[in-house]
Amino acid sequence: MESQFSGAHAASNDTSASTAARLRAEFRARFGREPRVFRAPGRVNLIGEHTDYTEGFVMPLAINLHAWVAAAPREDRRVRVYSANVGETAELDLAKPQLNAQGHWSAYILGVAASLLGAGHKIGGADLLVYGNVPMGAGLSSSASVEVASGFAMLAVSGLSMPPAELAKVCQHAENRYAGAMVGIMDQMMACCGRENYALLLDCRTLGYELLPLFRDAQFVVYNSMVKHDHAANEYNQRRADCETAARILSARIPSVKTLRDVTIEDLERYAADLPSNVYRRAHHVVTENARVLAARVALEKSDPELFGALMKQSHASLRDDYNVSCAELDILVKLASNSPGVYGSRMTGGGFGGCTISLVDSKRVDDFKQAIAAEYHDATKLTPDVYSFHASDGVQEVDGGIIQK
Ligand code: GLA
Repeated sequence: MESQFSGAHAASNDTSASTAARLRAEFRARFGREPRVFRAPGRVNLIGEHTDYTEGFVMPLAINLHAWVAAAPREDRRVRVYSANVGETAELDLAKPQLNAQGHWSAYILGVAASLLGAGHKIGGADLLVYGNVPMGAGLSSSASVEVASGFAMLAVSGLSMPPAELAKVCQHAENRYAGAMVGIMDQMMACCGRENYALLLDCRTLGYELLPLFRDAQFVVYNSMVKHDHAANEYNQRRADCETAARILSARIPSVKTLRDVTIEDLERYAADLPSNVYRRAHHVVTENARVLAARVALEKSDPELFGALMKQSHASLRDDYNVSCAELDILVKLASNSPGVYGSRMTGGGFGGCTISLVDSKRVDDFKQAIAAEYHDATKLTPDVYSFHASDGVQEVDGGIIQK
């Protein structure tokens, strides 16, 4: 059966109600019964990159692109999932939840089923139809949106629920264990806890968060470099290992240090000579980035886009030079944006090695900016970037017709 979700048509004509209706129709045709429908958002990170897995601070917002899941319970103990994006089905027997799906799309869904069971949540069998319009490999958290929407759906059709931060942790575990990416908690927390019209300041140690209003006269615009970060998991895991090495060396000298979250810039400079030079640079990024997130909160509270933009520029330089997670295309986009009228600041966003940049732009200049740099970027790279102005959205929800259930 050809999926109604294949091709450009699906993404370009998406509204919540029409996507939910098409998902229901396809589910009925494929599985022969009526589903419930759920969705969870992707996210864009304003500032606070590569700080979550050392229990630091991040400032993302959930975006109005989602992973959608239609689901209905089964009588037996099987989870059967059809991906409308890939056009394939995969299955897991909950009675024998051994899963070896690394590198396969189903790790992000069946891995969540296995992690839910492993954490003691007695989900039942289910049929799932999954469709996402968050671009993959673009640093906008397509993986976490699928994990969280699937986990929420499997719990709901089993008559179960759990606190959002717990679901986020189960989904993070699934990605670590079954997809082999040692990601932090930011993306899953945003897919669970995003809030319409707000960015979140998330403390990745306590998982507490503050809602932050966005700028009145400036907007965030996202350019997709169209370079996919597909093979970046090894590099990502290596950065995380470097941060753990830094924390181990520093905690031998400063007992109160548990992770890089606990390290001040003064501590780091005092013991710089004790760290291998690449480990020092990784730690320098994390320590200074945490400080930038807290300064960015003040910039938002005072509605000071100049200050926020300056912090974004520093963040990009630190990710490029200390953390080495940028790439030529992202650097070109940031440079072009920085030279454009009305842009306060620009940086890569997400894990890096491709994906997107985010720029803070004077609202009066946004339309121009969205046209401005595509031609020059194409001249330099032969790539045509996508450009987005996102609306800050809510976290995971059930969708009933066009009505969003809380
Ligand atoms: C990826 C990971 C997140 C976070 C970012 C970098 O998106 O999933 O946990 O580490 O990279 O900030």
